[in-house]
Amino acid sequence: MAKAGTKAGVLDGIINSPVAGKLGVPQGVPLRRYTPGKPALDGPIAVAGEGNYAAHIEPLLTANKGTDSAAYEFIPEHADTPRAAIVYDATGITRPEDLHKLYDSLNPQMRKLRPCARVVVLGTTPELLSVEHTIQRITQRALEGFTRSLAKELRAGATAQLVYAAPGTSVEQLESTLRFLLSGKSAFVDGQVIRVGAADSPAAPESWETPLAGRLAVVTGSARGIGKTMAEVLARDGAKVICVDVPGAGEALAETANQVKGTALPLDVTDPQAAAAIAEHAQVRYGMPIDVLVHNAGVTRDKLLVNMDRTMWDMVQNINLVAPVRITEALLEGGHLGPAPAIIGVSSIAGIAGNRGQTNYATTKAGMIGLVDALKETLARHGGTINAVAPGFIETAMTAAMPTLPREVGRKSNTLKQGGQTVDVAEVVAYLAAASSGAVSGNVIRVCGQSIMGA
Ligand SMILES: NC(=O)c1ccc[n+]([C@@H]2O[C@H](COP(=O)([O-])OP(=O)(O)OC[C@H]3O[C@@H](n4cnc5c(N)ncnc54)[C@H](O)[C@@H]3O)[C@@H](O)[C@H]2O)c1
Repeated sequence: MAKAGTKAGVLDGIINSPVAGKLGVPQGVPLRRYTPGKPALDGPIAVAGEGNYAAHIEPLLTANKGTDSAAYEFIPEHADTPRAAIVYDATGITRPEDLHKLYDSLNPQMRKLRPCARVVVLGTTPELLSVEHTIQRITQRALEGFTRSLAKELRAGATAQLVYAAPGTSVEQLESTLRFLLSGKSAFVDGQVIRVGAADSPAAPESWETPLAGRLAVVTGSARGIGKTMAEVLARDGAKVICVDVPGAGEALAETANQVKGTALPLDVTDPQAAAAIAEHAQVRYGMPIDVLVHNAGVTRDKLLVNMDRTMWDMVQNINLVAPVRITEALLEGGHLGPAPAIIGVSSIAGIAGNRGQTNYATTKAGMIGLVDALKETLARHGGTINAVAPGFIETAMTAAMPTLPREVGRKSNTLKQGGQTVDVAEVVAYLAAASSGAVSGNVIRVCGQSIMGA
């Protein structure tokens, strides 16, 4: 937010004031975020629908899981009680004529949702249904339009998502995704479709409060901004973290590393020896391979293509895409990744929708999605996963420095009517980094409050 007293600060104050709300400037509500030790939701869950999972969700989420204090409560679908979440199992809807079941269950529940409620619809991944199941495939595809529209209708910080499970996926393989979505960790994720595959059954962690215990993570660009918060959240969840940033980041990098009780590795990711340096640091300082690799380091050099000079193009390509591709390949080929590796690329909604003045940047951010698509099978052969997060407008030093009007438009142009926090991106990364998310691969999860950009 701009400094009070400055011209931008005064405008900020006006645009975000209650008066502006009355004049029709959209105002978001404070989102409920995750606090360790506090319940994941502030009310009960109603499970509805008929399919592969409905009967198994309550036993799954209430099973004793060590020190996990985030126990879930459940109520029947038709209870009058306000609910903090609805899980609707739509995997049993196999014909278009039966899609009314969604309406029948969810229409009466809409007025019973608490603020910041969660609606999670479960379906079967349409493209994995064989030709004998054509009608079911059509029907399951329809769930996407329903969920994305419902997300746009919900108010007061509530969100809706669709989880597609590959045929044969067990409810245990859905657990990490359900726990992520049914909590404040997914505060700024809205209207998303997450695909969970029937990979080998991922192990549930000892405790769902430290699902990354024992894992070694590398986060590039972690001296500040989103990367710094990623290091903090990964460490909170039990990981040991190697914090990488340019040597010029100096004190800031050392500070992050100290704060997360990790280690600092001053390194320019474009250095041809970067992968070797990371692997060596992991061996020398921790005596182990890398379990989690987060390609977060990134830069923008915005200009219309017509005015862009070649150095601006090259710099953005080299840092944002060439380096992640090279580091990933070298670590994979050199056998420097652990037995259940998780690679997470930081893309952007600009890489999905395109953005005027960002041909260089959006090329790299779409390339990051290409990295996920291209390496999904390779990672599966290594027993691992690869996914991308695509942030929208996130409150950082970078977005605070934008001119007031584009900043306010960027901040408010989403269903939740506000910018996200760095922790919102970091929570998605932590969910994808856990070994318990071993069945979650090949996804691009937008962290954008359902931004209208590329919707
Ligand atoms: N802030 C947003 O709204 C937003 C939106 C979409 C995507 N993203 C992406 O999220 C990531 C983090 O963004 P941020 O807003 O925190 O940016 P930031 O500029 O605050 O932080 C980026 C970090 O990367 C480091 N870095 C840059 N070049 C490097 C190099 N060659 N080697 C090692 N480290 C390097 C920087 O020193 C810095 O610490 C980026 O990939 C960015 O493109 C941000």
